[in-house]
Amino acid sequence: MVASPPRHFLQFSDFSRDEFDHLFERTRWIKSRFKNYELYQPLRDRTLAMVFEKASTRTRVSFEAGMNQLGGIAINLNRGDTQLSRGEPIEDVARVVSRMVDVVMIRTFEQSIIERFAAHSRVPVINGLTNAYHPCQILADLYTYVEHRGSISGRTVAWIGDANNVCATWLQAAPIFGFTVRVSTPPGYRLPAGLLDARHCMYCDDPAAACEGADLVTTDVWTSMGFEAENEERKRAFEDWRVDADLMRRAHRDALFMHCLPAHRGEEVAADVIDGPQSVVWDEAENRLHAQKALLEYLVCGRIDAS
Ligand code: CP
Ligand code: NVA
Repeated sequence: MVASPPRHFLQFSDFSRDEFDHLFERTRWIKSRFKNYELYQPLRDRTLAMVFEKASTRTRVSFEAGMNQLGGIAINLNRGDTQLSRGEPIEDVARVVSRMVDVVMIRTFEQSIIERFAAHSRVPVINGLTNAYHPCQILADLYTYVEHRGSISGRTVAWIGDANNVCATWLQAAPIFGFTVRVSTPPGYRLPAGLLDARHCMYCDDPAAACEGADLVTTDVWTSMGFEAENEERKRAFEDWRVDADLMRRAHRDALFMHCLPAHRGEEVAADVIDGPQSVVWDEAENRLHAQKALLEYLVCGRIDAS
């Protein structure tokens, strides 16, 4: 008998709208049980391996705490502590690790690394951030938007700053959920043309124009992990792409502000915006825990409907 290949979550577009609706329903249910101190442990005796080739606070804590809360255990593998740092091929690491654990989360550099791992893995693989995408972040962010404002369908999201991995993932989510993303970046930092879906994404040279009437304003660091050598040059180029109170005033008066964190106050976002009343950044961070528990449940146990 040939075992069916495992499902992976390597980019946002790997899942259908129906699967996201299911994950949101499970997130709501799992979060509510957790808040009531009710045990829910469908992953007893199951193991998550976490491979980190870049730094992390939220992803590390949310996956490890989430796996423990679901009854399983998490093993943390930093690149420097593994044979990856001494040149073991990623395909061999995938073959070995996936014979020993039930699910794998990887944070790495090129998207091709996680794709090669997944191609040789017997168990589901989750993208915990690559240079290209950060799908777990947008899963939590969309859930957070819905919690605060209801359906995001038909709404407008303004992305201000670097057209990075988080931006690219918002763009993947837009056609699936039926919202529009207005992207504003400095000249020279525009999106690769292939990522612009004309039906759900428009480019604005002026950040104020991108924010006009927006329902959600969001940004991220000017320099992502792996691009540190460009930091000083980027600080100069992005100076006018800071989300401040003036930009927020352009948005809808009920607009939310999101940032995946970590943030640099005074660079991509002013302190009075990230610490102000429209900001939901702490809810976004918390919802990483609940949304990823739903994701782990789905990938390891399959579809569990309301209990
Ligand atoms: N937003 C996010 O992924 O944070 P960490 O880098 O701390 O995991
Ligand atoms: N774009 C940022 C996100 C960090 C969570 C980075 O890749 O460093």
